Amino acid sequence: MTLGEPVTRVDGLLKATGAARYAAEFAPAGLVYAAITPSRIASGRTTEIDTAPALASPGVLAVLTHLNTPRLPFAEPDPLPAVYPVSGRRLRVLQDDRVLFFGQPVAVVVADTQGRAEAAAQLVEVQYAPSSRQRTDFDSEEPRPPSAAAAAKGRGQQTRQGDPDAQLRSADTVVDNGYTQPRNLHSAMEPHATVAAWDGDHLTLWEKSQWVQNVAAEMALTFGIAQEQVRVVNPFVGGAFGAALRPWPHTTLAALAARQVGRPVRLEMSRRELATAIGYRPRARHRVALGAGSDRRLVAHVHEAVSETSTFEEFADPTLSPAQTTYACADRRTGYALVRLDTNTPCPMRAPGWASGLLAQEVAMDELAWSLRTDPVELRLRNYADRNPTTGKPWAGNGLRACYARGVEAFGWAGRPQRPRSRRSGDLLLGSGMATAVYTAARYPATAAATLGVDGRVVVRCATTDMGPGTYTSMTQVASSALGIPLGAVSFELGDTALPAAMEHGGSTTMASIGSAVHEACGRLRRDLDDLAERTGRDRDDLRGLAAGGAVTATVASEPAEDFDDASHHTFGAVFVEVAVDADLGTTQVVRALGVYDAGRIVNPRLARQQCLGGMVGGIGMALYEGVAWDARLGRGMSATLADYHVPVNAGIGELQALFVDGGGDVGNPLGVKGVAELGICGVAAAVANAVWHATGVRVREFPVRIDQLVR
Ligand code: MOS
Repeated sequence: MTLGEPVTRVDGLLKATGAARYAAEFAPAGLVYAAITPSRIASGRTTEIDTAPALASPGVLAVLTHLNTPRLPFAEPDPLPAVYPVSGRRLRVLQDDRVLFFGQPVAVVVADTQGRAEAAAQLVEVQYAPSSRQRTDFDSEEPRPPSAAAAAKGRGQQTRQGDPDAQLRSADTVVDNGYTQPRNLHSAMEPHATVAAWDGDHLTLWEKSQWVQNVAAEMALTFGIAQEQVRVVNPFVGGAFGAALRPWPHTTLAALAARQVGRPVRLEMSRRELATAIGYRPRARHRVALGAGSDRRLVAHVHEAVSETSTFEEFADPTLSPAQTTYACADRRTGYALVRLDTNTPCPMRAPGWASGLLAQEVAMDELAWSLRTDPVELRLRNYADRNPTTGKPWAGNGLRACYARGVEAFGWAGRPQRPRSRRSGDLLLGSGMATAVYTAARYPATAAATLGVDGRVVVRCATTDMGPGTYTSMTQVASSALGIPLGAVSFELGDTALPAAMEHGGSTTMASIGSAVHEACGRLRRDLDDLAERTGRDRDDLRGLAAGGAVTATVASEPAEDFDDASHHTFGAVFVEVAVDADLGTTQVVRALGVYDAGRIVNPRLARQQCLGGMVGGIGMALYEGVAWDARLGRGMSATLADYHVPVNAGIGELQALFVDGGGDVGNPLGVKGVAELGICGVAAAVANAVWHATGVRVREFPVRIDQLVR
């Protein structure tokens, strides 16, 4: 009924009026406030912590350090869910004197106001014994291969098909270059925050999260209580981009502090604290070597990457997945290594791995196209993979060729001069570039419950999240369609561990996973109501009458069919970008960007477009602005706030357009969806960089593109 319609957000008014409540805005009675004292060294131990000045400060209720904090069980999740690093153990915050990274909390102050807590946190005096061997220089530490645990999860891939190195030696044309991308910060609008309240042995957390049940599970393991004793509530999330897939040390600290003072405690991260309080997209070096024959088909594809992780957790980005997925080539090798640094642990961020791998790969493809004097789209079409080139599995739908074709037409690509620096308008050098986008289209188990209440309205419930894509709205559409009732007669509830179980709201899986569960639960409720109508002789459309005997609920646990993995599930896209680079100033303006996507069936074209545009902005940021300036001596980022960690602003973004094509195929869920989300950032940064090359003739391989690289 409403599937496929551009419905406006059902929660739009709540958000626009400020009525939507985010984690930090919950204020249980008696709420007090916490603030962190961060470590000022990257590696070593604390030797002395003087809390007396902080304790004497006005309004202070408690100061927690490793010296007065009870030892907690801190059991590790087993098995580690995919959102965690592949091995290691999380920071056991305030459990001992060790300092593992700059910014690690070494004390927590609780006070009666936020300001008093922050002021007192600065009065905690900490003495340190720095480690004699600090590991904070990415370029000088030796990369080491990832563990077997990484390989088992398909990350940190070491793979080999054929003999690509021999092929590279004999190929007609070879491009073989290095690319670097810096650490990126998620920079969500809403900072991470936890409000913690204990009631006896029961803990309630209002917590910024993409997966409330995971927060409950981890806190249960941390405190040695049952998962059922932890309730996590999170109805609204102001962006997360992967940074709220797992709880971070501040979650534990808030709960610890609340238990210590016997009152609810709020702990909200400042923008500066977020640089070390949560994860980040890891810095990486890539080598991409492509060999092509005289027919312009790939004869060798090598992609090696080295990325950063912490000393205590091994985070392996799936950055080599694009190399294994995008193009047909019989001889292929991927290799991954990690540099373990005294720093906080990275985490998934915006198409984790895929976005960074595609940046290197798709610039390399552009370099190959120029070496071959071949149109970049033509080169990609020639190397189209008609099945997954690594696993050999058939695609569960692949509209990539249609994406290229539609993009060429809609962008006006035809007639583009191949030679760089060939279009100029006054001071501006004009150029265009393109790239392929690929991302995964997984589906997870999920449970949804649909209830017809005595008021004649249907409420559908599932413990998923809406961090911005519009889950509230799209699920309401799915429910309304499956029930055959108007949109206004249905509402959807999420973000509470009291609701039926869901897995992470991440990896572009929500529509396929939760959508399927909602579709099936509402389908079952419809059938139950039809049976009821028949038995009672009531009108099937008289919902209030049907509920006269009491509420009716249908609950369905939905999961992919057993043969789901017989096919290779991916979304695809083609991204086209035009830039104008000031010839004298070296400033780059994105004039326009177009993404054409196969994301399966589009439930809501308005929301899908918004997601893709948001992804494009993220990709433009990755190409032109974003990057942590790292101080290897101190082991800290120098750009932690939005004043010095640059993100795109409206003035830097031109005209953005997103189009969708039908990729066909059986995508393995009843709605025919593949998920949009992360796909939107994929390929964008490379398309921007390729357009910058086309405009200027300067091939940038060190990101983000900087003015000094373009002004010669
Ligand atoms: Mo996505 S990086 O799983 O939020």
